[in-house]
Amino acid sequence: MNLSIVILAAGKGSRMKSPKAKVLHEISGREMLYYSIKAALEITDDVIVVVAHQKDAVIAAMKKYFDHLTFVTQDVENFPGTGGAMMGVRPRYEDVLVLNGDMPLITRSSIEKFIANPADIVMSVIPLDNPLGYGRVIIENDQVLRIVEEKDATDTEKEINTVNAGVYAFKHHVLQTYLPRLSNANAQREYYLTDVIEMARNDHLSIAPLYVEEVEFKGVNSKNDLAQAEIIMMDRLRRAWMDVGVILQLPETIYIEEGVKFEGECIVENGVRLCGNTLISNSHIKAHSVIEDSVVKNSDVGPLAHLRPLSVLEDTHVGNFVEVKKSTLTGVKAGHLSYLGDATIDKGTNIGAGTITCNYDGVKKYQTIIGKNVFVGSDTQLVAPVEIADDVMIAAGTTVTAGKYESDILILSRTPIRKVAGFFTKFFGKGK
Ligand code: UD1
Ligand code: CA
Repeated sequence: MNLSIVILAAGKGSRMKSPKAKVLHEISGREMLYYSIKAALEITDDVIVVVAHQKDAVIAAMKKYFDHLTFVTQDVENFPGTGGAMMGVRPRYEDVLVLNGDMPLITRSSIEKFIANPADIVMSVIPLDNPLGYGRVIIENDQVLRIVEEKDATDTEKEINTVNAGVYAFKHHVLQTYLPRLSNANAQREYYLTDVIEMARNDHLSIAPLYVEEVEFKGVNSKNDLAQAEIIMMDRLRRAWMDVGVILQLPETIYIEEGVKFEGECIVENGVRLCGNTLISNSHIKAHSVIEDSVVKNSDVGPLAHLRPLSVLEDTHVGNFVEVKKSTLTGVKAGHLSYLGDATIDKGTNIGAGTITCNYDGVKKYQTIIGKNVFVGSDTQLVAPVEIADDVMIAAGTTVTAGKYESDILILSRTPIRKVAGFFTKFFGKGK
């Protein structure tokens, strides 16, 4: 589509009360700016992001996801404010849509409604029960007269509950005419983009209000807003996965991030947290398990298991209180109470309860490699680096010291039992 989309992301966001730039706060595992850029790129190839505050961090974060973005740096020293943000923007097309970067819930279909309207300027408005913090929109005969910011509003203006949601469709020549004429004579000493509306109106341009819904146009200005936006986003993600056939038990208790993918028939029980670039394929994730940046295929995990980043499970059973980190388990059973880190474990191997890979010596991390059909007895410690060939039995309670172990052996390290007769009575006394 011949449309340029400008996303304003240069502000500090002081109401977030955070050292981190507002647009980098995460919703469902991705920075909030990611979502509006994603929606914009579904419509056009000309997406311009205006940056300034923590610009290197903002640019680096978005380059993780997108290749074809134009970044423009705002001169915030001399031209602060949303109008100042637009001054350095050079859109490729005559139609220019402007979005605030703090509106993660916006979707492609709601952006498209702005372009369908023939007015010189189309702007988003929402009637709100509580308009606190937003710019108030003064509308007469279905035309916008002007917008007054909360900080500049009189008491009567503050009672207006129709607010500016922060999305506008302009013609480029309209911006070129009015942006240079903006002034900062207001409470915040900023150049307000919203003042373009009043100037254009005075020159008899048509300015149409487009009534929109808060669920898509909500601005995130505080940590409370962030949490509310995440509830809405999470609900969308869960519904979309259920639509394609994933079973979610008590869905509102399940946390699924944007980068998570499902394939085939999957069941996710209540209280599960799925993070990062996780892939779940034909698997059953049981209650209260946490999975981060991992791949789980034809397996069952939990309840109460923890797969940390870069774990790959295939045809595997991981049970309760098992923690796996950066390990590949293929055809393995690890039913209970284990830590498996930096390990590769092959088909038919059974990991007994309480098995620990001692992968860290305080300085470096080491690998544990276990072959096929190995029986690892309960309470085994594998002091990495350890390599165990196929068809080995490790007796319960063994400390397998670093080294290579060949096939078809028993590995056993046990202190022989000592029985001290009469000890109990001697220690606790008679009659106990
Ligand atoms: C703005 C609108 C207000 C509207 C509200 C909707 C103006 C003057 N006010 O107010 O009418 O109700 O959005 O959410 O436009 N930004 C920059 N450079 C700056 C300042 C801000 O790029 O110098 C960016 C921010 O990163 C943010 C967006 O613009 O993504 C909005 O800034 P914010 O400070 O949140 O504006 P509001 O005060 O909410
Ligand atoms: Ca805002």
